[in-house]
Amino acid sequence: MNILIAYSSKTGNTKKLAMGIYNNIYEECDLNVSIKPIDEVKCIEDYDAILIGYWVDKGGPNKEAKEFMKRIKNKRVGIFATLGAYPDSNHGFNSLVKGEDLLKENNEIIGKYICQGAVDSNLIEAFKKLDSNNYHAITDEKLRRYKIAKLHPNEAEILSASILFKERLTIV
Ligand SMILES: Cc1cc2nc3c(=O)[nH]c(=O)nc-3n(C[C@H](O)[C@H](O)[C@H](O)COP(=O)(O)O)c2cc1C
Repeated sequence: MNILIAYSSKTGNTKKLAMGIYNNIYEECDLNVSIKPIDEVKCIEDYDAILIGYWVDKGGPNKEAKEFMKRIKNKRVGIFATLGAYPDSNHGFNSLVKGEDLLKENNEIIGKYICQGAVDSNLIEAFKKLDSNNYHAITDEKLRRYKIAKLHPNEAEILSASILFKERLTIV
């Protein structure tokens, strides 16, 4: 089985998760796995299964990943993502479902995984300048969440995502 891990990553969090999944699958399975940033994927038809990684932008897949996902048909597809919010929040859950919605009609969804990733410090600085009535204005709760986001993706999350996708790809 030919497997592609394709990811989009602005600041490196989703790339870190993608590389970790790749290393775990590559080392332990008798599968033909490649990894590429989405903009380097030439021929989707070369692969039987695709694991797609995106960073969450406006509560769903970032634009580049969204365009890529719309092109995928008749594949076994896994989805993984990183975001600034907590993965166990409604926002986290919905951010994965929005990715799934782009793929589920034309593909078999084999699994999905989401975890936090450090939020760009320039964005946090910009939020700090906003009026307190702005939706994105900084609060103590948000500052704490951004500090926690910096700790992710961690090794445990990389392993969990790898185990999930490995099982779903290899057990027939
Ligand atoms: C422009 C922009 C928009 C973002 N929008 C969201 C969002 O809607 N929800 C969220 O939880 N995190 C949001 N984030 C945080 C990123 O999804 C998060 O930091 C992610 O791990 C970045 O991944 P990357 O390092 O692979 O680019 C946003 C970040 C940026 C820079």
